[in-house]
Amino acid sequence: MKGVVLAGGLGTRLYPLTRITNKHVLPVYDRPMIYYPIQCIINAAITDIMVVTGGAGAGEVRRLLGNGEEFGLDHLHYAQQEGKGGVAEALGLARDFAGTDRVLVVLGDNIIEKNIRRAVGEFSAQPEGARILLKEVDDPRRFGVARFDGDSLVGIEEKPAQPPSNYAVIGIYMYDDHVWDILPGLVPSARGELEITDVNNAYIKGGKMACSFLDGWWTDAGTFGSLHRASCLVEQHGANKIDDN
Ligand code: G1P
Repeated sequence: MKGVVLAGGLGTRLYPLTRITNKHVLPVYDRPMIYYPIQCIINAAITDIMVVTGGAGAGEVRRLLGNGEEFGLDHLHYAQQEGKGGVAEALGLARDFAGTDRVLVVLGDNIIEKNIRRAVGEFSAQPEGARILLKEVDDPRRFGVARFDGDSLVGIEEKPAQPPSNYAVIGIYMYDDHVWDILPGLVPSARGELEITDVNNAYIKGGKMACSFLDGWWTDAGTFGSLHRASCLVEQHGANKIDDN
């Protein structure tokens, strides 16, 4: 399996912090934001990793990470996203890198307390399809939100005014190579972006989506509130722990 960190976009929700630099190099407690998703992937025993970057300061992401020596890697792959086409557009840039392998995709502003080893193991045991991770949250309107019929996941609604549950779809996704067939059929959403939620709904519709529930805290860091919260959580509880779950 290969790892992909999506760290493009313009980070407009954090202006003026991101006017001259990429959101993913901003500090979250004692590290640049992008260190956390990279460590999350490495903790899942995946070491072949592509970083898709873009926006202001994309070069700074490369200067910061280099070949990933700080993470014990020999090499990091990079792709460049121009503009603000959305998470699903950024993922499309990893197609050649992934080839026919499965991919673990982590959004560059998502941080978790523990690790996803169990979920990745369950995905590896699936014959095909995709797997997402869900986390119960207080403010589901900010996220993709799971809709259930009994115990079955039947759809995901992106930033719904009336959330169908309190379970947010976190920014960690696992896909087989069917994902490359889904991407070309996507159309931009109201915010002008290709949405990862549409990719996930295509898998749900095809009956090929599984889900796991995340243990430990999770946050994004793409708004002033969540960026601050992320630093506090890392300081108080630590992140990317590998000793349990
Ligand atoms: C994206 C996804 C959303 C997901 C969130 C997790 O939102 O579209 O479904 O819940 O990441 O961080 P964005 O941060 O692009 O608004």
